[in-house]
Amino acid sequence: MEMDKDTSAGPGLFLTIEGIDGCGKTTLSRNLANYLTKHQIPVYLTAEPSKGAIGQLIRQNLQQEEVPAAVDALLFAADRIDHGSREILPWLQKGYIVITDRYRDSSLAYQSVQGKSQGLTLDWVAQLNKFSLIPDRIYLLDLDAETSLRRRFQDNAQQDDAQLEKFENLPFQKEIRKVFLELTDEEKDNQGNHKILDATKSTDELLLDILRDLHPICSAKGIPIPSPKQISDL
Ligand code: TYD
Repeated sequence: MEMDKDTSAGPGLFLTIEGIDGCGKTTLSRNLANYLTKHQIPVYLTAEPSKGAIGQLIRQNLQQEEVPAAVDALLFAADRIDHGSREILPWLQKGYIVITDRYRDSSLAYQSVQGKSQGLTLDWVAQLNKFSLIPDRIYLLDLDAETSLRRRFQDNAQQDDAQLEKFENLPFQKEIRKVFLELTDEEKDNQGNHKILDATKSTDELLLDILRDLHPICSAKGIPIPSPKQISDL
């Protein structure tokens, strides 16, 4: 899978957090952003679907089963390019660590599985995403589908008007987990920028895992992040 927008030469650092629904990406992204901010590291936290016009359109589609997978795939890819040029790249150029809660791997997993019966392939989705920025590091927060769906139901039970979106069912989540893991295979991960995290760990352990992984990458870029050795150092 060839891509052509490398950000690694710039001053900032581009991180993405991926995984199936309910794996804890949003909490982990926030915890990491808060920790870095507390240590005076400039951070910009964002998410996809983005808050832009295309992202808003996508959010409406998430409640509608009948939207063709190709439409979703095209919209997610367009949102990503828009998000990259409007938000991600400008903050990277200012030297920020940009953290995105979901990015390209979400499209490769969700839309390839969503569109399988409509003849849509992973390679086609990858082609659509050829013009998006390449992350310096992709964290896959890996969790089995049963546990993640249980977590989602528990979260939703606390909200009266909660509604599960069209992708939130067990067989679908099992399939996308498989694709997310395949994307980390050495053969497919030709940028070598994936790292799998075990989502059954505590939030502190996960933060520690990410900080340990980030330390050498940040040092190489001259970004002075702390290097906690254990949870009590956090
Ligand atoms: P997300 O914001 O993570 O879910 P929530 O609003 O419940 O926190 O993402 C919304 C849904 O969009 C999620 O089921 C995954 C899906 N999605 C795709 O199908 N393709 C994509 O490229 C992205 C970014 C998200």
